[in-house]
Amino acid sequence: MLLKSNLMNKKKILLGITGGIALYKVLELCSRLVKKDYDLRIIMTENAKEFVSPLTFETMGRTKVYSEMFHKGHHDLVEHIELVKDIDAFIIAPATANFIGKAANGIADDLLSSAFLAYNGSVLFAPGMNDNMLSHPATQKNIEQLKEWGHEFIEAQIGRLACNTVGKGRMAEPEDIVPVLEKKMTVKDLRHKKIIVTAGPTVERIDPVRYLTNDSSGKMGYAIAEQAWKRGADVLLISGPTSLKSHWPTEYIHSTNELMRKIDEYFDDADALIMAAAPSDYRPKVRYDQKIKKKDQDLILELEENPDILMYFAGKKSHQKLIGFAAETENLMENARIKKEKKSLDYIIANDITQKGAGFNVDTNICTIIGDDVEKLDLMSKKDLADRILDLL
Ligand code: CTP
Repeated sequence: MLLKSNLMNKKKILLGITGGIALYKVLELCSRLVKKDYDLRIIMTENAKEFVSPLTFETMGRTKVYSEMFHKGHHDLVEHIELVKDIDAFIIAPATANFIGKAANGIADDLLSSAFLAYNGSVLFAPGMNDNMLSHPATQKNIEQLKEWGHEFIEAQIGRLACNTVGKGRMAEPEDIVPVLEKKMTVKDLRHKKIIVTAGPTVERIDPVRYLTNDSSGKMGYAIAEQAWKRGADVLLISGPTSLKSHWPTEYIHSTNELMRKIDEYFDDADALIMAAAPSDYRPKVRYDQKIKKKDQDLILELEENPDILMYFAGKKSHQKLIGFAAETENLMENARIKKEKKSLDYIIANDITQKGAGFNVDTNICTIIGDDVEKLDLMSKKDLADRILDLL
């Protein structure tokens, strides 16, 4: 039977593809969504089929591609109604000026535009078109109308367009579309919570070309910020230098002192501070303005203590919850408990970084959450751990 899936618990995404050159990027979008184990349904317009064969999307999306409105001999099901039933999200990518125009004016002259009208949820549009077409008052008015009805847009980017001009019209990259789509599908149980999350290493300058840092990749803090953002929190990520991408409000810092000052700007209003960053405990006593020259003798670098950020905010806190991490190589529980007491934390997330699957630069972690009670967690993805930590709030 149409759409009967044996994968009932997977989230279902309806992907509408219209006829713009950016649809080559939608192949990558399909691949990313399939890898994340979503159940895809795809509708292509007739114009979209001129660019890429439906077979390509059927193969990439591991699903049937629908496009025809009328079938001879099919009387039991109405496809445009069936296709939007029970879906968790509906995205149009690329969304051409023509499709946006039809959607904003209630025109239902093919399967995709009919499915759009038959769906009563909020649709995500990823426009991709020539810059003049996008900035045209007709398109802008149509976009405003759709936004007013509660639909969302992931903005087109500035860049080189297929017509060989540079302007605003490039469809957003699939890696940027996926988190926005996932956010739409996430229950907003942290709405109105103001959460500060810190992530990554800090960098303490020695001279213009050298610095002290550590192995923190930032993955844990970014996972917490991402899940908080998807769950509707008013999140601020404060990050040291990492190679990770952020889709939510983020401030970047270098040193431990800068990190502390940045948190201080937002702390009074916050509901929680989650310190996943690995701030350097020491900084060079002298910061040289010029590169230190090599001499034929040992070099002694004197370090002075940095403030302990959590301890500083423990002294300032009123209603805020403080959550810290203890990355240990020995005596895990004892060291973590001492840190929790010393820093007056509500919770400490203890992890033994010598264990396989835990620690720096991996996508998983093995942790124990110590609050009033102790909860030992199995090996899990940093995303799942992020959710467990956010559940504490
Ligand atoms: N932390 C902090 N300020 C610092 C150093 C660490 O607020 N100057 C925070 C970390 O973000 C983490 C927690 O304190 O949430 C524990 O950090 P960790 O490096 O494990 O412990 P330290 O207190 O630095 O002690 P040690 O390095 O001796 O283990």
